[in-house]
Amino acid sequence: PAPLRVGLIGFGCVGQGFYDILWRLPGFGAEVRRIAVKNPAKPRTLPAERFTYHADELLADPELDVLVEVIDDAAEAFRLVSTALRQGRRVITANKAMVAQHLPELVALQHQHGGTLLYEAAVCGSIPIIRTLDAYFGQEPLRSVSGIFNGSSNYVLTRMGLDGTDYAPALAEAQAKGFAESDPTLDMAAFDPRSKAVILAAHAYGVLLAPEQVLNLGIENISATDIAYAGLEGQKIKVVAGLYLLPNGQLTVLVTPQFVGRESALYGVDEEFNGVIIEAEFAGPQFLRGRGAGGHPTGSAVLADLAALRGDFRYAYAKLRNAPLAYTTDLELEIY
Ligand code: HSE
Repeated sequence: PAPLRVGLIGFGCVGQGFYDILWRLPGFGAEVRRIAVKNPAKPRTLPAERFTYHADELLADPELDVLVEVIDDAAEAFRLVSTALRQGRRVITANKAMVAQHLPELVALQHQHGGTLLYEAAVCGSIPIIRTLDAYFGQEPLRSVSGIFNGSSNYVLTRMGLDGTDYAPALAEAQAKGFAESDPTLDMAAFDPRSKAVILAAHAYGVLLAPEQVLNLGIENISATDIAYAGLEGQKIKVVAGLYLLPNGQLTVLVTPQFVGRESALYGVDEEFNGVIIEAEFAGPQFLRGRGAGGHPTGSAVLADLAALRGDFRYAYAKLRNAPLAYTTDLELEIY
């Protein structure tokens, strides 16, 4: 089949990470045809002629098979994504604030116009949590879905705890590594993990919440002394997002700093890593841990959405597609 022609909107940390992954996987079957960015003055890692400064040109281009939106302006992202869905297009986004604020409209637009929107990269970076909840647990009741959903604040807490780095330089490090949002308040005050919790509430429980309904407390007022005290008690301080099903069937969703002890799987989730614990009625407890931020890890989640949109899983199961299947003694594995 002809390679999927991708229009990429945004070339920041995630956009560049995704672009680089596709470049390193020439056999994947997709190519970035056009890239839209906002600021013509910003130095870029690709020649200027690769860029347009008008994202609407990509929306008007019928030759693009998939639009990948990875800008951080949630309002502009919604304008672009909703316009594309009105055209019945296939769209991938990593914008958790936009998805969390507009999920009902985004779902309705897909029903009305036949397009598709995927957003695995919006929640917990590299961890395939939406796919896991949707595909793996099916209709099984989930008692809770909880974990660390923000890499930047977890990175800051880790640095403050490990070597006593102060809050401001620790945050500057998280920004320099490309983990933080352009406005790091979203990370530090736990607005970002709140958006992710709202998205997971829809996928785990079919419950649509407005982000404002969910309590979020961040780490701005946590001091090195607080962390040292936790350490003396054998605990770490982590920002834990939790979706808990009460015995009466009600759901509570909240994002707060908590003391986490060694008995918790989250204790070992440090730096920019995220971790998600799923307590399922029949499957029991499960735990996923992976990089929650950064260009390549988040770009890989975009890639997974692209593979899913392509309508097959050639990338994942290439070796199982070609009949006849036979055991091999040749251990020289090739990706394609
Ligand atoms: N700023 C986010 C974080 C990026 O630190 O987790 C990934 O969503």
